[in-house]
Amino acid sequence: MIGVFDSGFGGLTILRAFLKSLPAVNYIYLGDNARTPYGNKSQAVIYEYTRQAVEYLFGMGCVLIILACNTASAKALRKIQQEWLPNHCADRRVLGVVIPLAEAGAAATRFGRVGVIGTRATIESRVYEQELIKIRKDLKVYGKACPLLVPLVEEGWVEKPETSMILKKYLRHLKDKKVDTLIPGCTHYPFLQDKIEKIMGKSCTVLNGPETVAEKLKNYLFRHREIDERLQRRGETTFFTTDDPERFRAFGSKFLGNSIKLVEKVFLG
Ligand code: DGL
Repeated sequence: MIGVFDSGFGGLTILRAFLKSLPAVNYIYLGDNARTPYGNKSQAVIYEYTRQAVEYLFGMGCVLIILACNTASAKALRKIQQEWLPNHCADRRVLGVVIPLAEAGAAATRFGRVGVIGTRATIESRVYEQELIKIRKDLKVYGKACPLLVPLVEEGWVEKPETSMILKKYLRHLKDKKVDTLIPGCTHYPFLQDKIEKIMGKSCTVLNGPETVAEKLKNYLFRHREIDERLQRRGETTFFTTDDPERFRAFGSKFLGNSIKLVEKVFLG
């Protein structure tokens, strides 16, 4: 099984892409809805919450976990991989979304000017910048925290003029810096993809986050047969949330683009 973890509903946009590109694999989705959002929390809290989720998903039999949450990938993944995993589940893997998106960003840029948008925690971590520069030293990376976008998407305000206005304000800085590639570093931004593309204009490539991550996962499994061989393949997905399962079912179906039937409640920590 592959575990897909997010602070809430957002990671369902990533799971949706996995289900399209690797439909036979069994998945477990866990949303920490009771403690969302992570985007404005401290590193210590994000690490602890993420570690608890990872422990839970390994306990459910996952061989590989994808932190679909950019904030968790930015603030907790490295410590989990370097300190926790070797002492607890050394034969299993935890991966995030930052490296796949950074690799795609570095490959896409024509003039070496890359923009990144995300939650405050993701942008302040500068993790995208570090990963991009590891790949290509000459890149210029510009980050912009967009803390209002997650609540606007969750409120269903995507089509409201206020949202376009706020987006324009956030993206102004990156347009001024003449970025030619933009990494949408947050689970919620696929809902704003068209608007972001329109504002950034034709001269800027806006990555498709979920598709990019799904493609990289396929490639990872191809290169890591020892993990791939241990995955069950019956095309089953189960959903867990730390908050109200009924709300998750109703609201999550919108993020997944498909109806969610059964959701179970879990307690972490
Ligand atoms: N899932 C988070 C991310 O991708 C956004 C929501 C939150 O702040 O928890 O960064």
